[in-house]
Amino acid sequence: MTDVDPTDLDTFLLPDAPAAMVAGETAPLLSVRNLTVQFDTDDGIVHAVDDVSFDMVANETLGIVGESGSGKSVTSLAILGLLPKGAHVTGEVRFRGENILGINDNALRELRGDRIAMIFQDALAALNPVLTVGHQVAEAISVHHDLSRADREARVIELLDLVGISQPDQRYKQYPHEFSGGMRQRAMIAMSIANDPDVLIADEPTTALDVTIQAQVLEVLERIQDRTNSAIMLITHDLGVVAGVADRVVVMYAGRHAEMGTVDEIFYEPKHPYTRGLLASLPRVDRRVVNERLHRIEGQPPSSIFVPSGCAFHPRCPYADLQGLCVTEIPPLVDLEGGHFSACHFAKTLDERIPPHA
Ligand SMILES: Nc1ncnc2c1ncn2[C@@H]1O[C@H](COP(=O)(O)OP(=O)(O)OP(=O)(O)O)[C@@H](O)[C@H]1O
Ligand SMILES: [Mg+2]
Repeated sequence: MTDVDPTDLDTFLLPDAPAAMVAGETAPLLSVRNLTVQFDTDDGIVHAVDDVSFDMVANETLGIVGESGSGKSVTSLAILGLLPKGAHVTGEVRFRGENILGINDNALRELRGDRIAMIFQDALAALNPVLTVGHQVAEAISVHHDLSRADREARVIELLDLVGISQPDQRYKQYPHEFSGGMRQRAMIAMSIANDPDVLIADEPTTALDVTIQAQVLEVLERIQDRTNSAIMLITHDLGVVAGVADRVVVMYAGRHAEMGTVDEIFYEPKHPYTRGLLASLPRVDRRVVNERLHRIEGQPPSSIFVPSGCAFHPRCPYADLQGLCVTEIPPLVDLEGGHFSACHFAKTLDERIPPHA
């Protein structure tokens, strides 16, 4: 393997990469504010994402966690401007301070795949079966950057190497069907990082893979971040996946925030009953965080059309006051202490509260 020194960013970054990335910066690269997405369907209005806000800074990995249908993918597609035309999107998505929600298609295409890139879940579907892997990675570069053929090839080989594909100069010429599932996922990652994106969105990049390969893919993401300082959004339904890699976590439920905080706050001081339920259902977890009275989360996630009144989690919540606030009022997302947010009416007293329905 060609050994690229992680401290030598110039080797890896394209010549025209933004200087701020190399220098490192603390202002948010991406700010999502009050993002709301609805779809008009024959069955009614789908409330896919409701009033979601978060920031991502350079070099940070943000985990977005929630059950199926909680609005994780729709949030990421909204950021990338990839939602179907019929979607009603409101709020703001600021990239380096500039609102990119609703900017024209050309401007968006410039950003997409270059400054903001996405790793899709289904690597097989995303790769073209009749083109070599090397060709496809090269194409991802040439859409945005004018490199000579030789430079482009060298870059592709460097990328394949970076994502852990051995013998990259041989693999370059192979077709997707000659790659295993894990290797295809790596090739997809190579494509998505081809232009050193500032923001990398990975939507369930490991779900289809076995545990060992999952861990390797997560390791690749970390390695990329070490070299490019990108902000990574890691979307998963599995809180366990974010434990080792995320810096901060957003827990989503029914299109809304349930909780947001550092990975330690979420794991060791969860302030939302839904987060506690997710933790309790993890196979291995520090005993301190698990209230013995809690069981796995009973019931199913709600429909996005008929979202329960008040706190959407109330029908499944062991702590809910079913005669009061939890049923009548949407709990606001409150900052409990320096960036640890919870949208539970009882967030501040949750530790002392005896769950009435456990
Ligand atoms: N194009 C669409 N038209 C109508 N409803 C949609 C559309 N896309 C998504 N939805 C709905 O929006 C809600 C949120 O979907 P989303 O795909 O974001 O969930 P998710 O959290 O990514 O789930 P999963 O873990 O299964 O991937 C769901 O109820 C989904 O059915
Ligand atoms: Mg999804």
